[in-house]
Amino acid sequence: MKELVIKGQCGLSKILTGEKFENISKYLPAGDVVIITDVNVHRLYSNIFPSFPVISIGTGEEIKTLETVNHIFSQFLSLGVDRSWFVLGIGGGIVCDVAGYAASTYMRGLSFGFVSSTLLSQVDASVGGKNGVNFAGYKNLVGTINQPDFVICDASILKTLPEREIKCGFAEIIKHAVISGEEMFSFLENNADKAMKLDQSVIEKLIYDSVVIKSEIVGRDELEKGERRILNLGHTFGHAIEINSDFNHGESVAAGLKMACDLSVKKGFLKEKTAERIINLLKKYNLPTEHKVEMSKLTSAIAKDKKRENSFVNFVFIRDVGDVFVEKIDLFP
Ligand SMILES: NC(=O)c1ccc[n+]([C@@H]2O[C@H](COP(=O)([O-])OP(=O)(O)OC[C@H]3O[C@@H](n4cnc5c(N)ncnc54)[C@H](O)[C@@H]3O)[C@@H](O)[C@H]2O)c1
Ligand SMILES: [Zn+2]
Repeated sequence: MKELVIKGQCGLSKILTGEKFENISKYLPAGDVVIITDVNVHRLYSNIFPSFPVISIGTGEEIKTLETVNHIFSQFLSLGVDRSWFVLGIGGGIVCDVAGYAASTYMRGLSFGFVSSTLLSQVDASVGGKNGVNFAGYKNLVGTINQPDFVICDASILKTLPEREIKCGFAEIIKHAVISGEEMFSFLENNADKAMKLDQSVIEKLIYDSVVIKSEIVGRDELEKGERRILNLGHTFGHAIEINSDFNHGESVAAGLKMACDLSVKKGFLKEKTAERIINLLKKYNLPTEHKVEMSKLTSAIAKDKKRENSFVNFVFIRDVGDVFVEKIDLFP
């Protein structure tokens, strides 16, 4: 088991990789706890949940709404939840985003922690303190930045994840490797088969490396005033592809990463050979590098994202593996 600490504005957040779900009680405070999970995770794992009241939400982006948060608040009221209670989210990125937001806002904030149950949430969503819900068609428009007390990343609960969800996590891991550098990148190149089969030592190393890079960056720039923006690598086009296609988040990020490579080559920042190496790694993990969305649809989706007021966006360019930077680009030059 390895522990990483993020020093947030409101305290410390421990990320525990290689820890077992079954050891959860070691991390829970004495006193009342309420669990928030989704129906799938509840069906698969409620037999190993600690014995506390459970609020179960639905699945899919459509339920990541204020209505779901209202439902949670009503349940909190009927359970008599007050500021002394602890909220435990058990699930993927959606559960963590919704549970983190509900906990951060109810009675001006309860303490909370996560057992992260998807590869994407272990390597990305549950780390860094961002939470929130979608609103009026805008993704994550309403939310806070508030660190959980702990996040448990137990690789053994990934065995029940559908293959497409696993691939989704690898898109974010590859993004982290491009940001991190040669060691993580070549490890991914050399261990693709084992990684995709969730070989325990390989996947635990990749989860750990991802959490290291993300928590270091978040530790230096929790509120995304600067450096944290590099974690959006592949996501500017990625989000726009996601809105305009049937690709899921990870598939869209993979195709967005390929577009970031292309644009970086076009601007003279990145060698074609290095771009090819990154694209080949995406292919090795069976991720899509092409999509069918027209450029005009992508740019208007990017312009609409978060109600942007002008046509400039912060774009993450790649200079080399381990060397990425942010520069403003004009969407409608
Ligand atoms: N807060 C952040 O920094 C951040 C970062 C990246 C992504 N996100 C958010 O994360 C969300 C996506 O998260 P996700 O990919 O984990 O999706 P998800 O939470 O929807 O989970 C995917 C599916 O897998 C099921 N599932 C979860 N754990 C399982 C398990 N162990 N076995 C079998 N099935 C399981 C879920 O019920 C769901 O159907 C998006 O809403 C995205 O905006 C947030
Ligand atoms: Zn992402």
